[in-house]
Amino acid sequence: MALVIMKQILDEATKSNYGVGAFNVNNMEQIQGIMKAAKEVQSPVIVQASRGALKYTSMYYIKHMVAAAVEDNPDIPIALHLDHGNSLQTCREAIALGFTSVMIDGSLKEDSKTPTTFDENVEITKAVVEYAHRFGVTVEGELGTLGGIEDGVGSGVVKLTDPGEAARFIKLTGVDALALAIGTSHGAYKFKAQPTLAMDIISAVKAKCPATPLVMHGSSSVPPELIDIINEYGGRLEHTMGVPISAIQEAIKLGVKKINVDTDGRLAMTGAIRKFFAENPSEFDPRTYFGAAREAVYRVVRGKMIDYGSAGHARDYGPISLEEAKMYYC
Ligand code: G3H
Ligand code: 13P
Ligand code: ZN
Repeated sequence: MALVIMKQILDEATKSNYGVGAFNVNNMEQIQGIMKAAKEVQSPVIVQASRGALKYTSMYYIKHMVAAAVEDNPDIPIALHLDHGNSLQTCREAIALGFTSVMIDGSLKEDSKTPTTFDENVEITKAVVEYAHRFGVTVEGELGTLGGIEDGVGSGVVKLTDPGEAARFIKLTGVDALALAIGTSHGAYKFKAQPTLAMDIISAVKAKCPATPLVMHGSSSVPPELIDIINEYGGRLEHTMGVPISAIQEAIKLGVKKINVDTDGRLAMTGAIRKFFAENPSEFDPRTYFGAAREAVYRVVRGKMIDYGSAGHARDYGPISLEEAKMYYC
């Protein structure tokens, strides 16, 4: 199977009402851990790379490592998605590289820090949609801003999505999927206590735009057991709360179909490597500790594929090609 466009993965998820995890990757072990989980539970998957990931891997490594994942897993629908694209140029580069989906985060200016106006967001998102659809590539937009700052990305200011604006935004831009701000934030420090997310925003947008799959960023659950492993083996992370699985499942029922997860994978790898070195102080073969990290990613992702309901859906459909996809966007 070739890479699949994200729109097909999300439309199928909408039909059968499950969520699909979009997992951030920066290296081979993350990709292999994710793919081991997808293969085992037979789940479609969205593999996403941030601008930071593209810089870290000098772009070509991501392209070819994901191509290897496709070759190794011919039965699994895989979309390769640009996470938080900041400009038309970045999206063009990702499309030229072979990404089947891009996010233009027009909620922030090109500096990825300063919030934009509604009109500025419409303008840049529309330009990316017009460009990407010529190649059959899917586009995710964002309206409203999340809290939290990752790698210098994010304003740190929360502005929840206005459902009326979201409906206008979808119409004006022709975007294929929309990320909503409902109170989540990026990173490991999301909430001090059990969070209450603005689920009513999801329902209101879904009522106005039933055909558009919605996206939830900042969806790591920050499981206490992952923080415990890190701290038990010399780390020092504060215990906070992430997004509970039950909240994600409720969001999926209401219309969220893409669930972005980066932090939980990072925590899993860090804990596994710390534990490995504490227990094997004389080991220095990178395959041993990276192997342990890869298994930790696999376990976390496998659980999410089951919890989000995507497990068992890999063979529900055959992929449409990028050529066919050009007709598919309307
Ligand atoms: O949304 C941000 C993702 O967690 C990616 O983070 O920019 O540090 O790669 P990064
Ligand atoms: P987390 O930091 O909660 O994993 O969110 C990742 C994300 O939204 C990537 O776009
Ligand atoms: Zn995000």
